Amino acid sequence: MGGYTLIENASLANRNTLRVAARAKLLAEIRDASKLPELLDFPAVRNDRLLVLGEGSNMLFTGDFDGTVLAMATRGVFVEEMLATSGVHVETLATSGVEVESDGDSARIAVAAGERWDDFVRWTLGQGYAGLENLILIPGTVGAAPIQNIGAYGCEVAEFIESVEAWDIHERRVVTLDHATCAFAYRDSLFKHEPGRYIVTAVRFVLPRNRPLRTDYAGINEQLARMGVDKPAPFHVAEAVVHLRTSKLPDPSVIGNAGSFFKNPIVDAALADALKREHPGLAVWAQPNGRCKVSAAWMIEAAGFKGIREGDAGISNRHALVLVNHGNATGPQLWALAQRVMDGVREKFGVQLEPEPVVIGAR
Ligand code: EPU
Repeated sequence: MGGYTLIENASLANRNTLRVAARAKLLAEIRDASKLPELLDFPAVRNDRLLVLGEGSNMLFTGDFDGTVLAMATRGVFVEEMLATSGVHVETLATSGVEVESDGDSARIAVAAGERWDDFVRWTLGQGYAGLENLILIPGTVGAAPIQNIGAYGCEVAEFIESVEAWDIHERRVVTLDHATCAFAYRDSLFKHEPGRYIVTAVRFVLPRNRPLRTDYAGINEQLARMGVDKPAPFHVAEAVVHLRTSKLPDPSVIGNAGSFFKNPIVDAALADALKREHPGLAVWAQPNGRCKVSAAWMIEAAGFKGIREGDAGISNRHALVLVNHGNATGPQLWALAQRVMDGVREKFGVQLEPEPVVIGAR
């Protein structure tokens, strides 16, 4: 069989960054997206539950998965730079299989779902494209990026996504979903509202060569100053973000975690005002729609959960949003601790937190 590998009763322990020991009834690793229809047509796959997995950096398994886990391992970056004067220029770089279409000002870049996000970001910076510098070092795959609309340091990936290519399981065909159809919002998209319908196969980005840098998010300007940079280029901002992330967030290759486990809740402005009056230290970010995003990390820390540990399940002592596995915590143990944190924040602040990762199998 070309293009994919099937393994029965497969371990997922090395396929989720929280390092939870879970198994899949069937694991299908796909390297060639054109083989998806054939793979999905196997009776064992067609009649069963399906879970799409990238690097498993945003997932908590609370039990084994009784169905097919589809691990996206497709590769490829295809670049079209848009030429203002002479139309589209397409160039294929033989070594990497990269196609370039250019106008010198911006590029349209289609990337296979299985590419590692951080590799892609570093590649764009190396090619002189701007935009993704604030999103460096986020774990996970390119195909997962639009699903939760990954964001950090004042940027969200949605801003650079022109369209998403996906296999539509209902319609059994490849569809191109434009930016508006993807319904991006804070850590949210169409893909979260119609779970189980789409398998993202590629993401099409438009990246500029030049754009104003976004350095006003807490800490970036200060870090650039410490680096002695007064005229920053995108790679300087990337370096500053790498420094900030590595100093604040635990490294999933050292300690199991899935980045932020809780979303920053978005509440009515009146509630945000009341909370801010009572708790002046609480960070509040006004949203374009008049509502307010409030800092879940601050509330979790103020409620006394930062650094706590129940067995091997814990809340990081470096960042209160991060649920960590100190060794052999099980999925249910991690989920129980997460729920304890959510209950504690609700009791103290009257705000309901929501998990950011997909929690598989929770009741
Ligand atoms: N804070 C605390 N205690 C902590 C950590 C933070 O009180 O332990 C306070 C800080 O003092 C600050 C506020 O919380 O006032 C915000 O902290 P931070 O800048 O670290 O950002 P965040 O809102 O907690 C979000 C993203 C992160 C992203 C950072 C930086 C979410 C759910 N998380 O965290 O994304 O790296 O901003 O932009 O929106 C992820 O999604 O996995 C992730 C790590």
